[in-house]
Amino acid sequence: MDAADPLQFFRERFHIPQRQHQPLSYFCGNSLGLQPKAAQIAINQELTTWQNLGVEGWFEGENPWLGYHRHCQNALAHITGAQPQEVCPMNQLTVNLHLMLTSFYRPTARRYKILTVASDFPSDQYALETHLRTRGYDPADALIEVKPQAGNFTVSTADLLAVIDTHADSLALVCMSGLHYYTGQLFDMSAIAQATHRAGAWVGFDLAHAVGNAPLQLHDWGVDFAVWCSYKYLNSGPGGVSGVFVHQKHHSSDLPRLAGWWGYDEARRFEMTKGFVPMEGAAGWQLSTPNILALAAHRASLAIFEEATMPLLRQKSELLTGFLEALIQRINEESNDLKITQMTPTNPAERGAQLSLLVHQNGKMVFEALTQAGIIGDWREPNCIRLAPAPLYNTFEEVYRVYEVLRPMGL
Ligand SMILES: Cc1ncc(COP(=O)(O)O)c(C=O)c1O
Repeated sequence: MDAADPLQFFRERFHIPQRQHQPLSYFCGNSLGLQPKAAQIAINQELTTWQNLGVEGWFEGENPWLGYHRHCQNALAHITGAQPQEVCPMNQLTVNLHLMLTSFYRPTARRYKILTVASDFPSDQYALETHLRTRGYDPADALIEVKPQAGNFTVSTADLLAVIDTHADSLALVCMSGLHYYTGQLFDMSAIAQATHRAGAWVGFDLAHAVGNAPLQLHDWGVDFAVWCSYKYLNSGPGGVSGVFVHQKHHSSDLPRLAGWWGYDEARRFEMTKGFVPMEGAAGWQLSTPNILALAAHRASLAIFEEATMPLLRQKSELLTGFLEALIQRINEESNDLKITQMTPTNPAERGAQLSLLVHQNGKMVFEALTQAGIIGDWREPNCIRLAPAPLYNTFEEVYRVYEVLRPMGL
């Protein structure tokens, strides 16, 4: 499989962490993606511009910083299924979520509820809870949290759509992850968007775990807004710049927003006049002077996605994760002591790269055995191991090593 992999050469574009001069098998791209070798070159280029030009770097040099976000827009549009003006890198994810809620949560006396998935990522839960309070609503009343049915790990799309229908009269917004961080479930965002619009509400997704991982068609699905971070599958560095999507249908509307000067019409920004005039599209939600060094790393990483292309990445991702799934099933069949339950859906259309695995006994010991063998996943209490083979830099052989380490433990 590795020899036949059309993307095999992309692994060389990354720094693979090592232990005692041996490369680790890094399955943690769902948390922090690996460093593209091009990141350092791109950052150094901007450091050199700063060194040589000082403040003139905003207007001169190879890539004037003033319009630097534009270097990322085409690639982000391809990755998210958007038009370039619908996407913009800016700020950090939770900041962007609050900015989008400011614009897209438009409660009325009758319609004021936000629907989300229970046990979504904590930062999102805190954002929704505190955002509601700043608008004078009690989350106990205004927040609808959809839970999995008893005995299930995941919330079915049918259940979500039914709850949306039930609350159609009072719903203002559906705001949830597109791919759940803990279970690895990929939601049917198209169906959710349709049902939400039918109910007369708006819909926004947190795509932290979906972007650069799962196929997205945000424009065609009619999603109103989305936010993501770039430090997971987008490999843009710890705390890397976030991104937003605002659907074209909202670009000429006068939605309220929290503005800053970087969202102001670029051609006239330095006239420093009163009265906010936004840039067109998602860029009009920018607030502050961007972090050019973070954008340089982002740009370098996005160039790799442009080369590899999402359809090929997804094809390999399904094979890699399917292979891991098959090997875990084999361990369950062959072993006496080691029983592993997969929380992540078995249907490839309902997941990305990640498998979340519950280890029924001695979970921590199993995780430590993997780590000692140089297999890096992550551990979530009380007994969950998440492994995410990333198609840009992981190999089928690395996936097979998981089996080689775990099998003897169960015999
Ligand atoms: C699903 C999800 N949402 C939100 C966040 C928070 O992102 P940030 O700390 O960049 O605001 C994360 C971070 O890992 C995440 O996984």
